[in-house]
Amino acid sequence: MRTTVRSFAKLNLDLRVLHKRSDGFHELRTIFQTISLHDAIRIELDFAKRTQIDVSIPIEIEDNIVVRAAKLILDELKLRAWVRFFIDKRIPLGAGLGGGSSNAASVLLALPVLAGKSLPPETLFRFAKILGSDVPFFLHGGTALGLGRGTELYPLPDLPAHHALVVSTGIHVSTPEAYRSLERSLTSSDDSPILREFQTIAWTLNGSRLEQLPLKNDFEEVVFRIHPQLAAVSRKLRRLGAKLVRMTGSGSAVFGVFSSGEAVRQAARSFPAEGAFPVRFLTRSQYRRAWK
Ligand code: C5P
Repeated sequence: MRTTVRSFAKLNLDLRVLHKRSDGFHELRTIFQTISLHDAIRIELDFAKRTQIDVSIPIEIEDNIVVRAAKLILDELKLRAWVRFFIDKRIPLGAGLGGGSSNAASVLLALPVLAGKSLPPETLFRFAKILGSDVPFFLHGGTALGLGRGTELYPLPDLPAHHALVVSTGIHVSTPEAYRSLERSLTSSDDSPILREFQTIAWTLNGSRLEQLPLKNDFEEVVFRIHPQLAAVSRKLRRLGAKLVRMTGSGSAVFGVFSSGEAVRQAARSFPAEGAFPVRFLTRSQYRRAWK
């Protein structure tokens, strides 16, 4: 059995870190958005006496989330198989674009189908949460509200298919370090100004122009302080006419939303070609269609 699937990247249009939780994670409020930038994963599966999972990927990745996802699925289905993944990596790694998380979700969605089986959504969701905080979002895609660890998800109305330029400098930001440097306390309050502002955004997202919303990423301050080059990329995107500029996740990719595809292509010329990705926002139905 063979198939090739597309594994899309995400942006965090807004990301607030409220407080530390007793489980070691942080309580978040975020708005996720899938974008057209994607990896292609070819999956080959042959039933076998002994399970073997091989991943062919042009770059070195330490903790292979794809293998872990495949093991969870095969164990759950009580299947033994030789599974080969060939990943054509286009999403920059460690950039806050969810590349690894998206690959893992792709495996959770594709492998049961390829094996001629199906698993209930609750099982896929449970596995996604084990694999990482961003993985559950990629089971759904589109525009979504993420609460808790980022794994409690609610659909938001589709945003228009905005044109954006994602700029990746190759700087690697450690996610746990970025969280630590925020120095959030263990105490929580449901009446913080952060929450009030975030609620306003969630209520007005539909029907407002993105540039009119007070969108924010709490990581920008600390990450831009450590890597001033990212603040420079952000300023440059603004100078080039982007109407909204934000960092995604804990970085390091920075994106600018422009008014047209032509404006994005023009802005892209001001950055090194290997680190500039013209993209469009992908709605939930486009995401699902890509999956079919
Ligand atoms: O779940 P994921 O593997 O993406 O998380 C990586 C690290 O980021 C966690 O080990 C934790 O240090 C931090 N994190 C956090 N709060 C979240 C998500 C991630 O503190 N909501």
